[in-house]
Amino acid sequence: MKHSTFKITALLLFVFAMSSHQQIARAQFKPANEEKINALVKKMTLEEKVRMLHGNSSFTSAGVPRLGIPELVMSDGPHGVRTEHGRGWSEVKNVNDSGTYLPVGIALAATWNLALGYEYGKVLGSEAKYRGKDVILGPGINIMRSPLNGRNFEYQSEDPYLISRFNVGYIKGVQSQGTSACVKHWLANNEEVDRNTVDVQMSDRALREIYLPGFKAAVLEANVNTIMGAYNKFRGQFCTHNEYLNNILKKEWGFKGMMISDWGAVHSTTDALLYGTDLEMGTDLVLKSNSVSQTMVDGKPIAQTVYDRFYLADAALQMVKAGKIPVAVIDDKVKRILRVMFNSSVFSKSSPGEYASDAHIATAKKVARESIVLLKNQDNILPLNTARIKSIAVIGANANRENSMGGGSSQVRAKYEITPLQGLKNIAPGITIHYAPGYTIQRNATPTKAMITEAVEAAGKADIAIVVGGWTHGYDYTKWDDNAYDAEAVDKPDMKMPFGQDELIKAVINANPNTIVVLVGGGPIDMTQWIDDTKGIISAWYGGMEGGNALAEVIFGMVNPSGKLPVSFPKVLEDVPAHKFGDFPGKNGVAVYRDDIFVGYRYYDTYNVAPQFEFGFGMSYTDFTYKNLSASKATNGLVTATFTITNTGKVAGAEVAQLYVHKENTAITRANKELKGFQKVFLQPGESKTISLPLTREAFQYYDEQKGAWATEKGVYTLQVGGSSRKIYLTKTISL
Ligand code: BGC
Repeated sequence: MKHSTFKITALLLFVFAMSSHQQIARAQFKPANEEKINALVKKMTLEEKVRMLHGNSSFTSAGVPRLGIPELVMSDGPHGVRTEHGRGWSEVKNVNDSGTYLPVGIALAATWNLALGYEYGKVLGSEAKYRGKDVILGPGINIMRSPLNGRNFEYQSEDPYLISRFNVGYIKGVQSQGTSACVKHWLANNEEVDRNTVDVQMSDRALREIYLPGFKAAVLEANVNTIMGAYNKFRGQFCTHNEYLNNILKKEWGFKGMMISDWGAVHSTTDALLYGTDLEMGTDLVLKSNSVSQTMVDGKPIAQTVYDRFYLADAALQMVKAGKIPVAVIDDKVKRILRVMFNSSVFSKSSPGEYASDAHIATAKKVARESIVLLKNQDNILPLNTARIKSIAVIGANANRENSMGGGSSQVRAKYEITPLQGLKNIAPGITIHYAPGYTIQRNATPTKAMITEAVEAAGKADIAIVVGGWTHGYDYTKWDDNAYDAEAVDKPDMKMPFGQDELIKAVINANPNTIVVLVGGGPIDMTQWIDDTKGIISAWYGGMEGGNALAEVIFGMVNPSGKLPVSFPKVLEDVPAHKFGDFPGKNGVAVYRDDIFVGYRYYDTYNVAPQFEFGFGMSYTDFTYKNLSASKATNGLVTATFTITNTGKVAGAEVAQLYVHKENTAITRANKELKGFQKVFLQPGESKTISLPLTREAFQYYDEQKGAWATEKGVYTLQVGGSSRKIYLTKTISL
């Protein structure tokens, strides 16, 4: 492709502008290293530089051995260090890669406990170190725009504020161990169907208010070392080399770290050089050949490996040599990679890290315990009373299923995994447990009469029936392409329970009115067929290696549930705005986000659509009361909301107090309320705590598309404090 002088001058100005802008923006990387980096770059040949810009195996990129620059080693992420792949794409056998399998991203967010975000990141960073990985490919933070997105389980929320707060901790935790985090997928990778081609179109306002904040916090607050460019397009250009997005990331925010392409997401040498890709990975997956071929370089035939055929390999080298691209462009990318290396412990490889240690497993368990959300508890059926209950029927194939190896690139070989059935057996000695699978997890499975009959008989004989159902990552986890439901590269076909579970649950409830349904999975599922008839409902997500124990502890009351939904659970798929407008997964290769800023509760609450369970909802075995909300305003614009929470029940518990901002008589289109603060508070029976939540000026702002800037609407705002987006207990108005 030809390039005008104008384009190249503009590019040089851009590279220059980035460096001057970076001085104004927050200094993310230790300035002391810049001299060392410049000195190294000066010593490098062009060939050595270009070799650093692309993969040289499935998860590594080249260093420059003669200058002591090692390879950079990467691994998925985001809820454990991935099974070992060595330099190829098959699993390496006979290697100890059995590590800590943490609860997945949506479970972490359901804890609403920011301290756990940091602890979780620390575990990942430390285990990556132990396994010799420099970069862990997480966190995944894409907005949950539709319940159907196959990767929602890896992500965290529909709300940009909740995502932002969690990721600052997660990233800092990872990076505290000398490992680099990689926040992904930049940007608007909100569906898996057509992920390689779909062109996402959205307003600037939706971009700024909903889809960017998580990334912005990662860059400006957490100083994330690396970011991953997504597969999809944004406004016509692939995200991994997208001029508009790159300007925001590197110019406006002054990001000095490295943009890694998603695996196989680069499509053009010129665009990758000009619009942001610093390291190209996974193109071998697209080239689908590891053969060595011949090409002409500088008029000479040379043997080319698959890695030389990457877009940022020989083709880039030739463009620079031909004077079509300035060396400064290559230098900028190399410096970014070196900066990441210096900013973590790539050179020193000093900290050994720990692997599947007791401390790490304890973190996995703590997150699992706090992630479980109690959704329904009619007649206080939970916690189970061990004095009265002598037999339990545990029903559902999900009760007896290990999930760590499912889902795609996030798969983890767990040191062990406690299933719900095992967890219940572990802590219910003396109680007879009868297990019936009820359904089969397999392609096109329909309920079999015999399995339902077996489940109904078990339920009829037991004091309590616990159906463990919901989603699954796929059918056969030993096969990569057997993904379905909660998995990479697939979206769910609908929101209905698969494998005939509705029929099963109804039959079980009919046989035993004391039925509790436990839902496993990465988000909402349609419960309309049985919700009114079941007494208890629990969302247990994919709870990691200790998930089964944590679930059993909640069921028996050793742990008081304290998770809250990080995503709205709509009643039916048709209620979801992206689906109501018919914009998911898009048409003719384009996904227009007409839902705009109205994602999740922003839509349900503004347009009065009742969800099944609202954003922020979750029950406890104790009760909390909220009192005395006051709001103070400082001259610098900071507003502080202060209130008191009391545990008025009989057991210790934790409440997630949430603060939403509502604009009275707004002159612009805006959501009825937006989450702008929260805190998880642990309280003994009778104990009270006073909570102060600060609100900065940003908490009241919206993005003014006309001005291309954030703006504050003058007038009256109501601060709403409560236990969910719809359980608002206290309000206070303030004028701005
Ligand atoms: C996924 C990324 C992952 C990468 C490397 C891609 O298919 O989208 O999330 O990090 O593979 O495994």
